[in-house]
Amino acid sequence: MQQVNMDDHTVSFGAALRHHRRQQGLSLRQLAGLVAYSPGWLSKIENGMSTPTMQLARLCDRELAAEGVLAALAGSAADDPPPRLRPAQLPPSTAGFVGRERELEDLDALLAHSTETGLPLTVAIDGPAGVGKSALMIRWAGQVSGSFPGGVLYRDLRGSSPDAEPVRPTDVLADFLIALRVCPPAVPADLEQRAAMFRSLLAGLRMLVVLDNAADSRQVTPLLPGTAGCAAVVTSRRRLTGIAVRAGASKIPLGPMSPAESVALLCAVVGPDRVLAEADAARKLARHCAHLPLALRIAAERLATRPHRSLALLAEELDDEKGRLDLLADADDPHLALRAAFFGSYRDLDPEAARAFRLLGLHPDGRLEASVAAGLIGRPLGHTRRLLESLASVHLLEETGPDRYRLATLLRAYAAERAGDEEARVGADDPGPTAR
Ligand SMILES: Nc1ncnc2c1ncn2[C@@H]1O[C@H](COP(=O)(O)OP(=O)(O)OP(=O)(O)O)[C@@H](O)[C@H]1O
Ligand SMILES: [Mg+2]
Repeated sequence: MQQVNMDDHTVSFGAALRHHRRQQGLSLRQLAGLVAYSPGWLSKIENGMSTPTMQLARLCDRELAAEGVLAALAGSAADDPPPRLRPAQLPPSTAGFVGRERELEDLDALLAHSTETGLPLTVAIDGPAGVGKSALMIRWAGQVSGSFPGGVLYRDLRGSSPDAEPVRPTDVLADFLIALRVCPPAVPADLEQRAAMFRSLLAGLRMLVVLDNAADSRQVTPLLPGTAGCAAVVTSRRRLTGIAVRAGASKIPLGPMSPAESVALLCAVVGPDRVLAEADAARKLARHCAHLPLALRIAAERLATRPHRSLALLAEELDDEKGRLDLLADADDPHLALRAAFFGSYRDLDPEAARAFRLLGLHPDGRLEASVAAGLIGRPLGHTRRLLESLASVHLLEETGPDRYRLATLLRAYAAERAGDEEARVGADDPGPTAR
């Protein structure tokens, strides 16, 4: 008969057993009658003080309709007893992270509220490409990970990578189950069963699930724990209305940095002496980067690797809107470039929305009323509104008031570039758009 080691695993097994027994509305005595064990022994197992046998795990699985979770927990421990059962998958926080105090406080307050009320927490951070959603989430998750003794699960869902497809939720679930010590052969085949086993394993644990760069609500929904004590935090370029409606997710919209935060970011990468010695140039540089962390970071790295280059010179070079996207690119790492980041959003637009985006890029300052946009796009007002809304829902356009929109400077430069490309492509009879 296989025995489970006395460790975290025994405690998890006990918590899972208690959860399933209560879910079925059974007392310890009733379950004891069904599996022919004594209530006292079952109570010790539930409290993590005794180790279950595999036979008992299977019996309980059957009687409690636990979908193999209990046997998987017992089986994985017996095959390969883990030293501990606490995934800690979070990547390191951004070096030189600055600012975002208000958002960090908002996240803390949401967590405190969920702890007080005993309700599960789901938070979605959404905003434009490169605005710092992932950096903020990873920073916060690192700060609060100690409050989650069950551990932290993390996955980059690749929802907006310029050169990769979004990860399938069923694959993420398989990895999460294995991280939770389910032995690979016990991972069920289909998505629904994997999701059910995942939720069952998390029941009774305090676990933080961190889902980065989600494509949409559909990708995320099966990965949400949904039980009290657990929390999920998600980033996406898309407004995740689906999980807000279905899972009651709280939303933290993230916008560009303040001018002060932008200068602090430059200080963190370039060094305060150099930046503060040219404070006016630093502010101008930050404006040219539209206070967008990704742009600021690229500009800062450029300066850091050129110690004799003045901030004023780079700010001057960035004066030319057309050349900005060339300057805000990293020759070593094509992913660290604004074009690559913007392409990840542009690529997923349907052809009409993509066309609208390109044409809006031709507007001289990017501040548009819907009626002006309708003129530029050459479509009726109602139809134009829907197109503008679809661009705003993926943060390629900002809604600034009723029927009013703004296309941020760097995005406008990108849209104008794509418009030029498209004309050249049509002229040359090229087969289709490419990443740049
Ligand atoms: N608060 C911050 N302090 C310092 N650097 C930051 C901060 N926020 C973001 N950055 C830097 O800016 C860049 C973009 O940030 P991040 O990847 O978090 O953006 P994102 O919004 O998740 O982008 P995407 O939409 O492409 O996923 C990264 O290099 C990151 O390190
Ligand atoms: Mg991100």
